[in-house]
Amino acid sequence: MTEFREKRILVTGASSGIGRACVLQLLSSGAHVFVVGRNGAALATLGLPSNQIYVADLTDEAGVKAIVVRLKSEPGSLDGCVLAAGIHTFRPLILETYVDIRRPWETNTQSCLGFLAHLLKARLLARGGSVVLFSSAAARKAGAGAVSYASSKGAIESATYALALELASQRIRVNAVSAGIVRTPMSEGFMSKLTAEQRASLEARHPMGLGEPDDVAGPVLFLLSNAARWVTGVVLPVDGGYSIA
Ligand SMILES: NC(=O)c1ccc[n+]([C@@H]2O[C@H](COP(=O)([O-])OP(=O)(O)OC[C@H]3O[C@@H](n4cnc5c(N)ncnc54)[C@H](OP(=O)(O)O)[C@@H]3O)[C@@H](O)[C@H]2O)c1
Repeated sequence: MTEFREKRILVTGASSGIGRACVLQLLSSGAHVFVVGRNGAALATLGLPSNQIYVADLTDEAGVKAIVVRLKSEPGSLDGCVLAAGIHTFRPLILETYVDIRRPWETNTQSCLGFLAHLLKARLLARGGSVVLFSSAAARKAGAGAVSYASSKGAIESATYALALELASQRIRVNAVSAGIVRTPMSEGFMSKLTAEQRASLEARHPMGLGEPDDVAGPVLFLLSNAARWVTGVVLPVDGGYSIA
């Protein structure tokens, strides 16, 4: 894909897993990429100039506003943003407190939509731009222990539909990917809490096996690309067949 040569794309969750794979594919397609994450050392390994690196905790609105101010000082607006930052939690609801329930909602839902709201208020997204949000197969096919995480992702799916309508008049497209289990630090953390049988059963329910970060980054680049210029309000399953198995 050479069409990314002129494009300016922002990626959150860029320091790890799927977000990082998106950054690497975008860079090899010639995009000008701005990266966001809390782990500055991990972001530094991407080899970008310092004006394209934003170390921030997205649950901190003051930090988000500071990112927006810095982005405004850069020439041009954004052609796309990939909002991949997220956390996974895994615990039966009966054991959770308000604080436990709030954690995935704060990162996966509130700060994702809040960051986007600030980008929109600052008119940082160009006409014709593309927003890619991250749901999860768990939103529709969750297991026990996933109430808070799965519902934080279900909310992202609802937001995808509503926001696609809100932004259509500006020709800004809004889509989401709904990934099955992808081998990243997040899934390793979650899988390590399962028994060997539970892990094998989960893997067996992915007809094409578990995914790699690049398996999700490819469809994300498609949604960002001009080839998807009439695609909006879609939650795209990228799950090796998990959702239909
Ligand atoms: N892996 C899967 O199986 C899977 C399946 C379905 C959906 N997803 C979704 O895909 C997305 C990427 O997941 P992943 O597997 O690539 O996870 P990951 O490897 O754990 O990476 C998560 C990323 O989110 C960033 N992040 C988390 N909290 C943040 C905060 N408060 N502020 C700023 N950045 C924050 C992390 O940044 P720092 O490390 O720099 O803090 C990291 O870059 C997530 O939204 C996840 O829910 C993943």
